[in-house]
Amino acid sequence: MIILSIETSCDETAVALVEAKGDFPNATYRVLGNGLLSQIDIHREFGGVFPAVAKREHAKALVPMLAKALLEAGMLSEKETSVSEEAEKELGVLLEREPTLAELLIEFFKHHERPAIDAIAVTNGPGLAPALWVGVNFARALSLHFHIPVIPVNHMEGHILSSVFEGNHLGAMHFPALALLISGGHTEFVLMKDFAAYEKIGSTLDDAVGEAFDKAARMLGLPYPGGPEISRLAAHARAENLPPLLPSLPRPMLHTPDFNVSFSGLKTAVRTRVLDKVITDDERAIVARDFEDAATEVLIKKATRALMHTNAQTLILGGGVTANSNIRAAFETLITQEFPDVTLHLPDRALSTDNAIMIALSGHARLAQASMNTETLAANGSLSL
Ligand code: KG4
Ligand code: ZN
Repeated sequence: MIILSIETSCDETAVALVEAKGDFPNATYRVLGNGLLSQIDIHREFGGVFPAVAKREHAKALVPMLAKALLEAGMLSEKETSVSEEAEKELGVLLEREPTLAELLIEFFKHHERPAIDAIAVTNGPGLAPALWVGVNFARALSLHFHIPVIPVNHMEGHILSSVFEGNHLGAMHFPALALLISGGHTEFVLMKDFAAYEKIGSTLDDAVGEAFDKAARMLGLPYPGGPEISRLAAHARAENLPPLLPSLPRPMLHTPDFNVSFSGLKTAVRTRVLDKVITDDERAIVARDFEDAATEVLIKKATRALMHTNAQTLILGGGVTANSNIRAAFETLITQEFPDVTLHLPDRALSTDNAIMIALSGHARLAQASMNTETLAANGSLSL
């Protein structure tokens, strides 16, 4: 079967076409087409993501990304097709909050043949509600016009499956598994007794780790998104062996007997170090490295506690912050040295941050929820696993 997947929860507009052969979780997958447009350059000007701006950009980019994915898959077939006035009106009503998208999509329908897609998977949460709605309404419009069922997908489940994905199949999963989700909006420890059987056992009490990277970066005068910038400067500080900050940055909640974390104290400590000071490039790199070290240590310590407590056989690291080399390396070392019997799943770097391939995988896992009745399908910004 061929799944068309759509992701618009934050600042990437992504559409993918994935072929699945066999049943989840033993299927083989082939990515037929992948359209992904990052809005980062636009959000950088504002120093962060504004939901209204994200929504506008998704509305502009969805149809081009659909066309790109179809073209890559060899499934874009031009053909003059009549769209009745009634159908056009119905689409207009469905997309009344996204007039740009309605216009582009109706044009697309008028000039292309129906592609051979079996199901549409769309992120319906968590994320920025206005951004999510664009993707959800796009899925509903495609479903209505092409008569294809829709599967709502939880973005965080997508991140989990994206980490387990090994290019054309899912890697080995031994349960119970522990998933540590680290992204711009989430920092969560999730215990999995099986696929789709989730229990949240810990989370951040304030900022998500990616958010802390972004905020610390901003305090250091670095552009959005801050994660990659901090990572780059930290690598420089390590290569040059620059001396550590004294006193060192705090590791909030390192020793609390739970699986919760907190990053606001660390962020405040960074602010105190740089506030009203002219700092040199080397000093900036030192703060970046020490911040990264502190965040890494907190995650490693709490993951160790959670692995011991849950007896997990598998550790899955998911979310955009898994693009961080220092964090990846620290977890690889932890598993090799302390938990050699645990299987570690890290996403391919290209699938660390938001993409639509992970949404297709999750859609396949949730195939039973495919429905032609999309009227009740809604975006939910705070959807949990
Ligand atoms: O999963 P994701 O793409 O979007 C959300 O669902 O939030 O994660 C984005 C987050 C941002 O906060 C970004 O700064 C962070 O991931 N990030 C990184 C790195 N690359 C992206 N954080 C640390 N180091 C990186 N190399
Ligand atoms: Zn994400």
